[in-house]
Amino acid sequence: MAVDDGRKTVVCVVGTRPEAIKMAPVVMALREENSLNVVLLATGQHSQMLYQALEPFGLSPDHDLKVMKERQSLDYVTSSVLCGVGEFFDEIRPNVVLVHGDTTTTMASALAAFYRHIPVAHVEAGLRSGDMSRPFPEEMNRVVTDRISSLYFAPTGKSKDNLLREGIGEERIWVTGNTVIDALIWMRDKMARPSREDLMAFEGKRFLLVTAHRRESWGEPMREIALALRDILSMDEDLMLLVPMHRNPDVRAVWREVLGDHDRVLLCDPLDYPDFVWAMDKCLFMLSDSGGVQEEASGLKKPVLILRDVTERPEVLEAGVGFLVGTSRERIVSNALEILEGRKALPASMGSPFGDGRASRLIAEVICKFVNNPIFI
Ligand code: UD1
Ligand code: UDP
Repeated sequence: MAVDDGRKTVVCVVGTRPEAIKMAPVVMALREENSLNVVLLATGQHSQMLYQALEPFGLSPDHDLKVMKERQSLDYVTSSVLCGVGEFFDEIRPNVVLVHGDTTTTMASALAAFYRHIPVAHVEAGLRSGDMSRPFPEEMNRVVTDRISSLYFAPTGKSKDNLLREGIGEERIWVTGNTVIDALIWMRDKMARPSREDLMAFEGKRFLLVTAHRRESWGEPMREIALALRDILSMDEDLMLLVPMHRNPDVRAVWREVLGDHDRVLLCDPLDYPDFVWAMDKCLFMLSDSGGVQEEASGLKKPVLILRDVTERPEVLEAGVGFLVGTSRERIVSNALEILEGRKALPASMGSPFGDGRASRLIAEVICKFVNNPIFI
């Protein structure tokens, strides 16, 4: 993986499903630059879900630290990523390290690079909820990563403003759009029908698509969400529910307990990205606490009830696509009924606030200039 041919080495680190999907187009764009040796490092914070997310893009990691354990703790993931990534950097000596977003992999990998004076480029920089406990621990991960990065790829003008407010120099920030839109467009162009037999039951049907996994919703809030979904089904007789369940065993237990016996609900394993894009496109609307799904909703002009109390993606609310409903059973039900009964104003046909699918190309151009010209910034 280390090369001795004069090319500069760029390491892209991914650990979880959303990092894989959003970093994939960046890796593909970087690999078009002949002057770069691009290494894809997986921490393996997620095992199955990481490979599942990379595979549709034709990517597989050059190296995998395989850290995942069932019911892993934050301390465990942080320390194993920090040590494992650090050792890998010592061996490979990258010229720049790209990290994405706000996971433990993101923050610990940025820290390992910082300890070695290796410049960090943060993709999806500058998102802020303003509340360290929501999302937890992602808000802290973003703040720490941005504090120690050298290059900032901010998806929107608002995220750039957050960075400027924290004293980051404007010459280090590029507003690129979000690379999830690049991934979405790339996948939508290739997709026709779902690959899974059990999804065919949803073709031409009225259905809602649901995902939820946030740490601050584990336990009772997740139960409230599941109960609200059961209520919604009881009020609409031909409505169906598609729930691709996160692999976290505690999250799954709640879905199974509350919705497992319902004949209009499919609780299934996480969908491959092409199938999930198909489901987002065909459903009536989504209910989700996922960051990526909020952005994809705005790319697809599909309403999303955001199962959280705060969002670091205010653009989704402004675009009229997303509605912040939290985890209260009553509030979820009343908002869902408003959409189902046509009483909620839905998105106008404006462009996505997260760009037009060219973010990754722009990032690759900046990285190329940066590593080949030390006086660039
Ligand atoms: C992590 C990120 C979160 C991100 C989410 C995307 C942190 C602290 N959290 O949360 O920011 O939004 O990923 O999904 O970085 N598991 C499997 N197989 C898999 C993946 C997970 O079995 O492929 C199970 C394991 O039991 C694991 C548990 O899920 O211990 C939790 O995984 P972890 O990465 O620690 O937290 P997430 O909730 O997935
Ligand atoms: N996704 C997927 N299959 C699924 C559920 C989600 O491919 O069954 C994709 C989704 O399109 C989005 C990403 O996974 O791009 C979001 O990941 P997740 O919700 O795990 O993390 P978050 O965005 O909340 O950090």
